[in-house]
Parts: sequence; C-alpha cells; structure tokens
Amino acid sequence: MKLLVTGGAGYVGSVCAARLVEEGHEVVVVDDLSTGHADAVPEGATFVQADLADAADDLLADGVEGVLHFAAKSLVGESMTDPAKYWDGNVVTSLRLLAAVHRHGVPRLVFSSTAATYGEPEQVPIPESAPTRPTNTYGATKLAIDHAITSYADAHGLAAVSLRYFNVAGAHDRFGERHATETHLIPLVLQVASGLRAQVSIYGDDWPTEDGTCVRDYIHVTDLADAHLLALRHATAGLHRIYNLGNGTGFSVKEVIDACRRVTGHAIPAELAPRRAGDPATLVAAADRARTELGWKPERPDLDTIVADAWRFTQSRLGG
Ligand code: UFG
Repeated sequence: MKLLVTGGAGYVGSVCAARLVEEGHEVVVVDDLSTGHADAVPEGATFVQADLADAADDLLADGVEGVLHFAAKSLVGESMTDPAKYWDGNVVTSLRLLAAVHRHGVPRLVFSSTAATYGEPEQVPIPESAPTRPTNTYGATKLAIDHAITSYADAHGLAAVSLRYFNVAGAHDRFGERHATETHLIPLVLQVASGLRAQVSIYGDDWPTEDGTCVRDYIHVTDLADAHLLALRHATAGLHRIYNLGNGTGFSVKEVIDACRRVTGHAIPAELAPRRAGDPATLVAAADRARTELGWKPERPDLDTIVADAWRFTQSRLGG
C-alpha cells in the first residue's frame, strides 16, 4: 500500500515505518523534526521535512491509501505546563490532517492514541469501555482527536483505528528512544546506568499502590508496531475501532529500576522526589480486544527483555 506516516522520524513512528518498509509498503514519512531525527527515517522510505498541517494536502494528493498518524507532542508533564502546545500541536494539526484525508478520499487511518485518555481508572486492567476522564492535557488532546475520528468514520466512511498505547519501551534494530529532553522512566534510568546521569528521581512513594510508586504497563515497541500492521489490514470502512495495547501486567517505578539494575549490573542510585502533576497512580491494559479482533500477540512481553533491548540501543548510541 502507499502510506503516509506522520511523525515517522520519532521513536514509535520510526519503528513502525521501518516495519512497514520491511513488509513491502511504499512509505512516505513526514516530520517537522521538532522532536524527531532525520537519520531515524528508515532506508527505503521517502522523507519530507515539513509542518504536517501545511503539507497534508500536497502529501495526500497522490493516491495515498492509508495514513498512520504518529506526529504529536507526547509528554504528560509538559502538557500540564504548556497546554497551548498540546491543543495546537495535537488537536489543531490533526483536524487539518483529517480534513485533508477526507478531501483526498484516503480510505484508512491508524491513529496513535494513548492510555492517558482514561485518567485514573475505576477498574484495572482497563478495558476500552472504561470511562475516559483524562487527568492531564496530553490525554485530553488525544481523546479529542479520537472523537473527531469517530465523526469522520460515521459521516464519511473512513476506516479508522485508534491504538491506545500504554508505556512503550525497548528498541528495534537501530531505532529507539532518543529525546533531546528525556522524561521517560526507562531511558532516564538507563542514562544513570550509562554514567550520563548521577541518579534517577522517583516521583512520589505515597501513591495508592503496593510499594507506593506509580504502576505502568510496559510494552515493547516492536509488539506495538506489529499491532499497527494488523490494524491497517483490519480497518473497516465506516468504523472507528479502538484498541488498548499493553501486556496486562503492571510494574511499579521501583520494580522498573530493579529490572534495570538486573539487566545492566549497575547500582542505579535513586532518590525520592515530589509527585509529578497529571500522573495517574496505575495504568494497566486489558488488551483482549486487540488479541481477539486483530489477532495481535505480543512476542516480547517480559520486562527484562524490554529493558535489555533498550539498554542495547543506549549502548550502541554511546558507541559501546
Ligand atoms: N517517573 C519517575 N521518575 C522519572 C520519570 C518517570 O518516577 O524520572 C515515573 C512517572 O511518574 C510515571 C512512570 O515513571 O509514574 C512512567 O513515566 P513515563 O514518563 O515514562 O511515562 P508516563 O506513564 O508518564 O507516560 C507514558 C507516555 C504517554 C502515555 C502513558 C500511558 O509518555 O504518552 O505512558 O501509560 F500516555
């Protein structure tokens, strides 16, 4: 298929673009490089550096059969201090993209949604039917886009799938997580193990969880990419389907740090810090729908495997 991958120079977008190229799709990546890296665009994909909202019409004019929409601002903490960046960067841009998708008759769309749309869950693991009450602006913007996509599927017959990622980690070949300002737990902990950082902060140990630190469901980025390939294949005209992507097992911040200690052999000093605004205590996925309807089966669900792949990537970036 001829596919447009927005944000394909970013972490998840680059891994998915690489897998799409491997599967024989014709891939055009558009990315403004505000957080992505040109050298993360896989060989075999065409790269266009542009602002998505401005370029969407040109990029879709030429018989594109599907859009995978990754481009977004995606930091929970930042979304609480700079909401305009998220409402403009995520919602306004996505609305412009959706309008162009409709104008050019693009039949399918796969969207990167997030577990942050649910907010503090009443029920864990969280099913897709759970109420969506985001506790942070990032989740609110992604939820707004999900609603817009539903309208386009209903009104215009778009075949749409939203994938609600839980905590993505790990790496695929030379593609991994490298943000200029890193805020995600596993890469930060691995920076300590690499000697780039003295210690890691634990954002609160008085949460209502077993050891008092926040619990998350970590999913390997290659398993996530596989779900995108399946979503593209199963997208059905006029339907907007939503799937959670996670392994269904929660690990606390302390357990993640312990896994990193096991994998790296480094002591990894940790200090207690205040809670971070917008964090829910626990996010764990019920992903049965993706397994049943898409035939998705995570191949690398083990936390130590996920950390080991991230660690290999970190070391390769350091020239180790
Ligand atoms: N954390 C720390 N110390 C740090 C960094 C993070 O204690 O230095 C904690 C956070 O408070 C949180 C957990 O580690 O409890 C995971 O934090 P991340 O920043 O790695 O990830 P988030 O859970 O905040 O968010 C990620 C994605 C979102 C997605 C969410 C869904 O960035 O896009 O997972 O679960 F919505």
